[in-house]
Amino acid sequence: MGSYEAAARLAANDPEYFWLQAARRVSWTKAPTRALDDSAAPLYRWFPDGELNTCFNAVDRHVLAGRGTRTAIIYDSPLADAKRRISYDELLDQVSRFAGVLATLGVGVGDRVVIYMPMIPEAVVAMLATARLGAVHSVVFGGFAPAELAARIDDASPTVIVTATCGIEPSRVIAYQPLVEEAIALSTHKPSATVVFERPQVPVAVGERTHDWHALMADAAPQACVPVQATDPLYILYTSGTTGKPKGVVRDNGGHAVAMAWSLGNVYDIGPDDVWWAASDVGWVVGHSYIVYSPLIVGATTVMFEGKPVGTPDAGAFWRMIDEYRINGLFCAPTAIRAIKKEDPDALLLADYDISSLRALFQAGERLDPDTYHWAVNHLQVPVIDNWWQTETGWAIASNMRGLEPMPVKPGSPTVPVPGFDVAVVDGEGNVVHAGVEGSIVIRLPMPPGTLPTLWGDDQRYIDSYLTTFPGYYTTGDGGMIDADGYVYVLGRTDDVINVAGHRLSTGSMEAVVASHPLVAECAVIGVQDQLKGQIPRAFVVLKSGALIEPEQLQREIVQSIRHEIGAVAALKEVVIVPGLPKTRSGKILRRTMRGIADGRPEAVPSTIEDIRVLEAIAPLLGGSGQG
Ligand code: COA
Ligand code: AMP
Repeated sequence: MGSYEAAARLAANDPEYFWLQAARRVSWTKAPTRALDDSAAPLYRWFPDGELNTCFNAVDRHVLAGRGTRTAIIYDSPLADAKRRISYDELLDQVSRFAGVLATLGVGVGDRVVIYMPMIPEAVVAMLATARLGAVHSVVFGGFAPAELAARIDDASPTVIVTATCGIEPSRVIAYQPLVEEAIALSTHKPSATVVFERPQVPVAVGERTHDWHALMADAAPQACVPVQATDPLYILYTSGTTGKPKGVVRDNGGHAVAMAWSLGNVYDIGPDDVWWAASDVGWVVGHSYIVYSPLIVGATTVMFEGKPVGTPDAGAFWRMIDEYRINGLFCAPTAIRAIKKEDPDALLLADYDISSLRALFQAGERLDPDTYHWAVNHLQVPVIDNWWQTETGWAIASNMRGLEPMPVKPGSPTVPVPGFDVAVVDGEGNVVHAGVEGSIVIRLPMPPGTLPTLWGDDQRYIDSYLTTFPGYYTTGDGGMIDADGYVYVLGRTDDVINVAGHRLSTGSMEAVVASHPLVAECAVIGVQDQLKGQIPRAFVVLKSGALIEPEQLQREIVQSIRHEIGAVAALKEVVIVPGLPKTRSGKILRRTMRGIADGRPEAVPSTIEDIRVLEAIAPLLGGSGQG
């Protein structure tokens, strides 16, 4: 029996033993004597009697172990023309003082801190300082507009918001303070203070409740770590669901620390002496887990890159980074590789750099298409490892376990379930299907440590959204199959969530914005294939009778309101006026059928002749740019 099979069996048959062993990688103020608490099933808790501080695990313990001079964070920003190395000693100083700042502003155990920041080290400092106080952070991706930020402020009711004066995109500098002010004006809950980190590009504007980060830090008293229960929340991360209201995924302290400590070595084969780069953003789950917590808990060096794979300055940016920092493992979304491939199809720029330090390329966040896989393998000459997971799980559900036991790669599959995840494919009735048969991918409960215990303040929504369709299982929302060798294939979402350039978005929230246009009678937004971004949203609208507007004008207005209400990241650029939308007898729009036709696989037929006619009329408009 190989190491993978042994670990998977042990995690399945004796989870108490398996996870208490894994928990030894974490420093506890009170070590847990139990792993799983199933007393409130189907809501599960891990390490119910453990007590720890996550920031202590990510920072202090490395300094105490004599590794303080080791580089914790390498920051490289072609957009800000800045580079910095931050040692664990320096990180401890920054984090403990910023925790002092937050404490002075009234943040205590269990209070929330919303962090709306670009990819700068201070975002990590703010996250860790919050954790240090036993408080709960909620990082909001900088590409979201004020209305989305406001929705998160209302749900999380933070004591403090931490932001910066700007984010930087290749085409523009985005002043954040006006966005935060607009969000606070929109929200019902009003935070008591905002702390703004001034960047050289935009000066800070202080006010009655708005403070300058630098000024506060100048007289801040360092704050010690506050131990919390393992089951206490560490963070809330909002993610898109089927409806417009984002879901506040909760992460606990203990289970999360254990999963983060266990996975970096076992899944990604990265240890304390390695340099690791997750080319994501702190606003996404990949950023939380693999830019911040996992590498820092392990004591490795983590790389923060504020730039794009292409155009900052060219398609050699990633190779320059690997060369310059001797990076051992790179994790990014397939979109990033597709962007590089599009600019430099023969990877000619690789010749300018030495990427021999790289041991593997990890891909996640969206489906890794075989073309991209083969291109990366051929040019980089390292294993290219697909891993599948989601905000809710916090770490990989299925992967090739590079540290535990590397396995043969099958292009199109993220390989096998990670030990602790009992993955199955079920049909519409919840029956497990045979190998090779497509269905809904589910995970048998309980899921392992590190996965969401619930949604913020809404156990019932957690149960309704994930645990009810197939009792005994967590529904991932992804469809796919498992082959005879046990390899998992993820073929796409079964709900209205779409994945645009590795960014998870809800078509439901886009539809709400499109439908609010005064001339729109009804609409549907579906994801269509796109060669660069994987999927892009396309809006189909039926105009109110008698409405007169040029299609270009309508498109401009709708695109603008999507950017204003959701954010540029929604990337909705195409609006198509159609005579009607196909519907079921009860009047529900046949989005699945529309999606199926767009993807070249019609799944259901409309029930009326009229709808067949509608569908025929709009079918040529459904296809994505990937299909010409
Ligand atoms: N703040 C403000 N705006 C942002 C933003 C941020 N943090 N991130 C993206 N945007 C804006 C972009 O400027 C762009 O605006 P535009 O329509 O005015 O040009 C829009 O949102 C869409 O952004 P994006 O989808 O990222 O497209 P892009 O053309 O800027 O870049 C890629 C394309 C493929 C290079 C880029 O999407 C990429 O690197 N993707 C990888 C995603 C990733 O790491 N995901 C995490 C999961 S692992
Ligand atoms: P997010 O919560 O933003 O991480 O998005 C999670 C969703 O992205 C999953 O439910 C999948 O639909 C998709 N996804 C993530 N990783 C992969 C992968 N390796 N293969 C296919 N789809 C993926």
